[in-house]
Amino acid sequence: MRTREDGTVEIGVGLISVGWMGRLHSRAYANLRYAYPDLGLRLRLVHAADPAPARADEAVEVLGYERASADYRDVLRDPEVDVVSICAPNFLHAEIGIAAARAGKHFWIEKPVGRGEHETRAVAEAAAEAGVVSSIGFNYRHAPAIEYLRELVLEGRLGRITNVRGQMFADYSADPRGALSWRFVREHAGTGVLGDLMGHLVDLVQYAIGPIAEVSAVTSTVYTERPELPMGTGTHFAVIENGDMKAVENEDYAGMLVRIAAGAPGAHAVGALEASRVSVGPRASYGIEVYGTHGSAHWDFERMNELHLSGGLGAENQGYTRVMARPGMGDFARFQPGAGTSMGYDDLKVIEAKKFVQAVLGREALNANIQDALSAAQVVGAAERSAETRTWQPSAPVDGTTAAGA
Ligand SMILES: NC(=O)c1ccc[n+]([C@@H]2O[C@H](COP(=O)([O-])OP(=O)(O)OC[C@H]3O[C@@H](n4cnc5c(N)ncnc54)[C@H](O)[C@@H]3O)[C@@H](O)[C@H]2O)c1
Repeated sequence: MRTREDGTVEIGVGLISVGWMGRLHSRAYANLRYAYPDLGLRLRLVHAADPAPARADEAVEVLGYERASADYRDVLRDPEVDVVSICAPNFLHAEIGIAAARAGKHFWIEKPVGRGEHETRAVAEAAAEAGVVSSIGFNYRHAPAIEYLRELVLEGRLGRITNVRGQMFADYSADPRGALSWRFVREHAGTGVLGDLMGHLVDLVQYAIGPIAEVSAVTSTVYTERPELPMGTGTHFAVIENGDMKAVENEDYAGMLVRIAAGAPGAHAVGALEASRVSVGPRASYGIEVYGTHGSAHWDFERMNELHLSGGLGAENQGYTRVMARPGMGDFARFQPGAGTSMGYDDLKVIEAKKFVQAVLGREALNANIQDALSAAQVVGAAERSAETRTWQPSAPVDGTTAAGA
């Protein structure tokens, strides 16, 4: 990192893995200066790595990195790289996260951090030992409507929180010919939809109302085999005709009852959370509903710029008001000047990049951190154990998270 003649701070960026998330992180860094010109930052895309040659080429030719390698270690060895985005499949997160920490690189890593809580904890320990900042790809929490919902809860405007409902219903694998990407292979992904989507929902609930203390879960696998997709080609939305069928090794659906921890803004609230990657109908219906004694709020990513609010309307006018995201809610004003003009998914990643870089510079730490990832991984681990044993399972408290009330 260096201060340039014009007073702006230049930060050298490294990227590991040039898939969906690698491209998105790169666009987020590039757009940071337009959304946040006042921060005085210049992000320089220095070095990307992907073992798939076409992806490494794309990093230079399309995304604008100065150089690219097949081996991620070359990125970590590069002295011009100050911060690294780790966008690899889950099985590489622990290895690469620990190596990044040991190389003294601050890192922004995709969720879930590794294949389960043991790997997440190992990355957390390595980051703490090295004193590097780590930020997690829990993008949905940055939606302005979610930031506003969290404020309503923290200010007590929904009253005492009684219960929460949430769903992460995706259809990326609803077609039985949907590709068997690394996400379906236990050695590569760990859990299925629990780690892939339920972790996001756990983070949303914890960010909005407080940590989950206990869960009771069920899981099921709807399609037990799928046509194989080679690593580094296509996307997990691909549909393959007459492909080689391989076994699906993790769950397509997960549902769980939860109890919120004592001492949180949503203390003792109970709830029901579901996740599916084979929904027919909902396409990316990622939502949360928070109910309190004075009001309630509903949000769904498919309508990211809306929040449905109830309460304070008087006994004769109960029901929901559709409130549009607007300047004053989260970072909305950085992207659009007025309500009704929508923000998009990419914008959430720009906000995430901003929170990461601000934390790296020691300015403010509003980012989802590695302790948040550990907390989500513990809840997912508890859900896995619960589904196996058909019992309620506790999830231990984690210090240092950004959960509501922490
Ligand atoms: N935050 C979100 O909303 C969100 C959305 C999608 C994916 N993710 C997460 O992002 C991560 C990546 O997912 P994706 O959808 O971008 O995957 P992807 O399959 O699109 O891309 C993965 C890339 O990793 C590369 N790769 C394979 N082996 C590698 C190695 N040894 N070193 C470096 N790169 C290697 C592949 O060639 C490929 O280009 C996963 O952890 C996933 O859970 C998060």
